[in-house]
Amino acid sequence: MNQIDRAKQLAAERSLDDVRDGMCLGLGSGSTAAIMLELLGQRVRQGLRVCGVPTSEASRQLAQREGIPLVTFDEVTNLDLTIDGADEVDPQLNLIKGGGGALLREKIVASLSRRVLIIADVRKQVPYLGAFPLPVEVVRFAWKPLAERLAQLGASPALRPGSDGRPYLTDEGNFILDCAFDRIADPAALAARLDAIPGVVDHGLFVGLADTLIVGRGEGTDVIDRPRRQAI
Ligand code: A5P
Repeated sequence: MNQIDRAKQLAAERSLDDVRDGMCLGLGSGSTAAIMLELLGQRVRQGLRVCGVPTSEASRQLAQREGIPLVTFDEVTNLDLTIDGADEVDPQLNLIKGGGGALLREKIVASLSRRVLIIADVRKQVPYLGAFPLPVEVVRFAWKPLAERLAQLGASPALRPGSDGRPYLTDEGNFILDCAFDRIADPAALAARLDAIPGVVDHGLFVGLADTLIVGRGEGTDVIDRPRRQAI
């Protein structure tokens, strides 16, 4: 196992310390979350009773294979804990997510969770968001004018390609424009501007949603809570 995979493994293992019997979980997507799902599956087979809402079709299939009981938002309206990965994490625990294309369901699941735990290897920690191109999910109908509007915000949008030579389609059937911004000075302000564009379904900026980051490095983990805003 290489160092990065080891770091992912350590973060995933540590996250399960916060899972309690009877919890309803948000099940993240991506390679780090996949390790967590495999470990969670082992615990379920040993008798842990939890249920989960997956954030992508890929995670749904993996969780099913692991024997993790699944529910939908027709059955539960909020979750105790979500465990998910990230593409970038800044010191305020703002995130870029969506490298795997699951940002829309990931954000819904995170927003419906009492607590959101992010698991990542040390490469994901950055002083500023933006080196990783920000995924923006847009309706197919108007993707070209939407790409132009995003370019006016200072991005260089690129339509995400799929594996079959056609554009990548999200689980909800939308396109993704990967928007290189270089450095996002004010994630909350950019998120508000993106939220206001008709045709933008969602974007990978997660501002104020993550409560705790578990970062795997070397042979251990660091656990970092989101800094609280100073009362004025
Ligand atoms: C999926 O859409 C993403 O948000 C993932 O959580 C993110 O890309 C992290 O994935 P890895 O754990 O594979 O780096």
